[in-house]
Parts: sequence; structure tokens; C-alpha cells
Amino acid sequence: MLNSLCVGCIVLTVLEFHIKYTWDSLPMHHDPIIIRFSPGDGGLLMQVTATLINDPPAPPGPPGEPFPGLWNYEVVESFFLNNNTEQYLEVELCPHGQHLVLLFNGKHNAFMQQLPLSFKVNIEDNIWKGEALIPWRYFPPGVNKMNSYAIHGSGAERSYEALYPVPREDLVEGQKPDFHRLEYFEDFTLQSIMGENWVQPESDLWDLVGK
Ligand SMILES: *[C@@H]1O[C@H](CO)[C@@H](O)[C@H](O)[C@H]1NC(C)=O
Repeated sequence: MLNSLCVGCIVLTVLEFHIKYTWDSLPMHHDPIIIRFSPGDGGLLMQVTATLINDPPAPPGPPGEPFPGLWNYEVVESFFLNNNTEQYLEVELCPHGQHLVLLFNGKHNAFMQQLPLSFKVNIEDNIWKGEALIPWRYFPPGVNKMNSYAIHGSGAERSYEALYPVPREDLVEGQKPDFHRLEYFEDFTLQSIMGENWVQPESDLWDLVGK
């Protein structure tokens, strides 16, 4: 979904996505999770609006700080991929204020994690609204694909949800959720938000692994 906002007479593009399926393409039993991307100060603004499930409870770490293993708690995640180099950025946001940012060079190959993130959460009437500013230097060069996910619940109630799920016909017996199935990501560019002529700033972090 594409929206335009006028803020101080600068037209901002907001891309909005709704997570509506489980990781294996079944309908979910709660309201869709909404993720919006828009231009931020020095990076991409990621805004999440979701029902607070509050299961599992908050991770044992301070809000506003990285929390290793955050994917074992209640999270909403976005992955930004260059599908030619298989370099990608993962951003995980927790309704209790913790976050986790990872950089991958090749599938599942994290070379950096727990990067700092400006992230605030507001909870009202069981709806949580999170806002993170993802610095440009976290994005691999040439992002052209994206997928987003949500995880919550415990034990048999643990639910894995995806914006672009694995199609039913691709599932094999006993398959488990894996959010790094990069082939199911769909087209996404930062230029679609920042403007066609926008050039992604060079990144010292990604220069470390080469292009
Ligand atoms: C990247 O995605 C395009 C489709 O958008 C596909 O044709 C191409 O094979 C993909 N490249 C890799 C390396 O997977």
C-alpha cells in the first residue's frame, strides 16, 4: 500500500504492509500486524502497530537495549536483502522495548549483531506501537527484496507469521519455520520510499565484508 503525507510541505512516501498469514500460508486468528516504512532522519523509519499478545512475557533485559536471542520472545521483524549478494539486514522489535539488529553475509551467516537502535514503544488498550530509526549504514548495498515476520505465544501456541509466507504447494512434510528462506522475499527498494534519484549512502559496516 502506498500513501503520501505532507509534512511541512515535503511530500513523504509511506509504504505500508500487513502481515496476514502464518509462515506456511494459513490465515491468522488475530488482527493483521501493520508495518510502515518512511523516510527518517538519517535512516529508514520503521513503525509497527500490533495487538499486544504479552506471551511470552518481557525478556529479562532493559528496554531500548539489544537483547540477544530476542526471537524467542514476542517480536516483529523485517529483513532487507540484496538477493544478488545474499547480504541482508534483520531488525527485530519487541513490544517491551528490546531490539535486535543483525547483519548477514550469506544465508544464516551473521557477522555483526546487537547494533544500537533508536526504538520507542507505546502501549495503549492492548495495542503496541513501536517506532525504530534504522540508520542507512545498516542496510547492505543494493537492497532489492524484503520480508517481514511476527512471532509470539508459547509452547503449542507459538505462532510464526509472515508477510510473504511459504506457499502451501512448496511445503514438505515436517517442515519448520525458517525466516531465512530468501527465495520467498519480494521486491522492495529504498528508492520506492526515498525517491528514484536517491542514492544509498556508503556504509562502513558493509565495506568490512566487501561487495
Ligand atoms: C533475485 O530475484 C530475481 C527476481 O526478482 C530472480 O530472478 C533472481 O534469480 C534472484 N537472484 C538470486 C541470486 O537468487
